Amino acid sequence: MEVRKAVIPAAGFGTRFLPATKAQPKEMLVVVDKPLIQYSVEEAVQAGLKKIGLIISRRKETIPDHFDETPELENFLEEKKKIELLEEVRRISHLADFCYIRQRQALGLGHAILMSEDFVGQEPFAVLLPDDIFDCPVPCIKQLIEVFREKKATVIVLQRVDEDGMNKYGIIKPKPISDRLFQVEELVEKPGPAKAFSDLAVIGRYVFTPEIFEMIRRTPPDKRGEIQITDAIQLLLEKQPVYGLLFEGRRYDAGDKFGFLQATVELALKRKEFRERFLRFLQEVFSQEEVNF
Ligand code: G1P
Repeated sequence: MEVRKAVIPAAGFGTRFLPATKAQPKEMLVVVDKPLIQYSVEEAVQAGLKKIGLIISRRKETIPDHFDETPELENFLEEKKKIELLEEVRRISHLADFCYIRQRQALGLGHAILMSEDFVGQEPFAVLLPDDIFDCPVPCIKQLIEVFREKKATVIVLQRVDEDGMNKYGIIKPKPISDRLFQVEELVEKPGPAKAFSDLAVIGRYVFTPEIFEMIRRTPPDKRGEIQITDAIQLLLEKQPVYGLLFEGRRYDAGDKFGFLQATVELALKRKEFRERFLRFLQEVFSQEEVNF
């Protein structure tokens, strides 16, 4: 069966980004000129996934508003003949077929994904964590879908990390299949360098078989009371193979303050309307820094 649906969990507190996230969703923080979550939605759409389930929670109403129609704004832009802006605003509200699902309690990423079970049904589906912005020649989730088509099994995306990353991400025990593809033998959530099986970390894109839901239900909460998707994947391994793919492209962890700055600078430099001016500005900053240090 083809992958047709995407699930985007956006229900967390965004604690890594306080105080910016005290009164607004992390997913609505702006990178260059669009909210973080729009990058994931556009990636899913580029990969042909037009049915998108967004998992939200209280105080996240600006997310559905962003992807909804805005008649007053559209009329205003039309009257003022701001046609390009009007088209852009309309494009956003027609990007995909959205379904909003509430996670009532913050019980972890695995639990958030479980909330999408009715939306997904008995078919394979993609999960995109909106913290991660990918800039790839082929959309990252499409790279995973291509492996799924061949293997008919769950596929997760991998990135090599340093010791710090072993505290931040799920880490796999890999069995190499080719340069970029691995079979996952085991995985553990944020093991730290002393207990990590490898330097291959799980990052924010997954294609799951629907059996993952049963595994999430069977996953006990961790010591923080959260149901981890990593633990559910570990249970899935007992029933089905799971593959890991080192993606081709660049990734920014924009849910982290430093990663957010990197994404902002690099993605701004890729935009032709900013590139020259912004480079000149950065050069000025560098030369001032050299004088100061
Ligand atoms: C989650 C997953 C973790 C994964 C990470 C990728 O962690 O639990 O396995 O490595 O996303 O960004 P979180 O960032 O929610 O702590």
